[in-house]
Amino acid sequence: MSSREPHGRLVDPARAREEVETEASLRPRRLAEFIGQQQLKENLSIFIQAARGRGEPLDHVLLFGPPGLGKTTIATIVANEMGVPIHITSGPAIERPGDLAAILTSMEAGQVLFIDEIHRLSRAVEEVLYPAMEDFQIDIVLGKGAGARSIRLDLPAFTVVGATTRAGLLTSPLRDRFGIVHYFNLYTPEELAQIIRRSARIMQVQIDEPAVEEIATRSRGTPRIANRLLRRVRDFAQVLGGGHITLEITQDALARLGVDPLGLDEMDHKILRTLIEKFGGGPVGLDTLSASVQEDPGTIEDMYEPFLMQLGFIQRTPRGRIATPKAWQHLGVPISSSTQPSLGLDAN
Ligand SMILES: Nc1ncnc2c1ncn2[C@@H]1O[C@H](COP(=O)(O)OP(=O)(O)O)[C@@H](O)[C@H]1O
Ligand SMILES: [Mg+2]
Repeated sequence: MSSREPHGRLVDPARAREEVETEASLRPRRLAEFIGQQQLKENLSIFIQAARGRGEPLDHVLLFGPPGLGKTTIATIVANEMGVPIHITSGPAIERPGDLAAILTSMEAGQVLFIDEIHRLSRAVEEVLYPAMEDFQIDIVLGKGAGARSIRLDLPAFTVVGATTRAGLLTSPLRDRFGIVHYFNLYTPEELAQIIRRSARIMQVQIDEPAVEEIATRSRGTPRIANRLLRRVRDFAQVLGGGHITLEITQDALARLGVDPLGLDEMDHKILRTLIEKFGGGPVGLDTLSASVQEDPGTIEDMYEPFLMQLGFIQRTPRGRIATPKAWQHLGVPISSSTQPSLGLDAN
């Protein structure tokens, strides 16, 4: 049996388990170990010191961004820095209001409740969360039918850390309940290089600097991908090169893994090829694109487009997605006059 991971590749369960275990060992535990997202780190460090100084819980924190950029990591760091336990749950796991009530009534003062995929909470559950976050109170309904009555319970003050890949799907009343909000940016190759060096140290693997940089530029701005590529390259180095990671082994390994020189994977290629070969460069609406490449529109928007936009390969325009001349060049397709990308500038 195999399961799907975020990038749509098939992975076998044993390998997936190994990945989860190494990922846990590579996960930074303190703010000082967390690389990049400078503004978030500086702000959090001040807010945490201030809250601790007052002996109060930290304000609620909302984290937006594509998968693998450090949202879960920041949630655990917040709890570590506040010196409190973290309760971890997710939007889909909290099915009914009663499930949330059970979690909330077990929270102790100052503790952190991490709700991953918070955009997937049902409306009924959200209704319970609002007063809990705002006034640290919940209404519990006792009994059924005509005899039902509701009682209001006080909760200890606590901190919700919410994470979502889908900024657009969060209701505004929910968003408004968070005092600290951060949008994660894709990481620069320099930041990814720092992350790779740190991970290599923890994994006790020797890696040449050019190999570090090679992996960094091919990791789609994403620490989780950088760590995964490092592990795979280490496998090749171990079997083919005595364990030491050189540039040559890295390039060979990444080619065998189907990671192109800029880090684009199969789906990135499929998106670009579809835009260029099927639609003459665009503009193409998201739903049409999604149907053509057979990938969910939300996944295209949240997971593939940010990196393709960072590379300057696609543009979002009001009329749809456009492949830029850089993308044509990267795929080695000459821009023919009949299929000249319009860049969305013509007015109709
Ligand atoms: N800023 C960072 N510095 C170092 N490692 C990071 C950083 N952000 C993420 N990672 C690594 O990437 C992995 C994925 O991060 P995670 O917090 O699970 O992402 P998300 O929750 O946003 O999907 C972590 O296990 C960690 O090893
Ligand atoms: Mg996560």
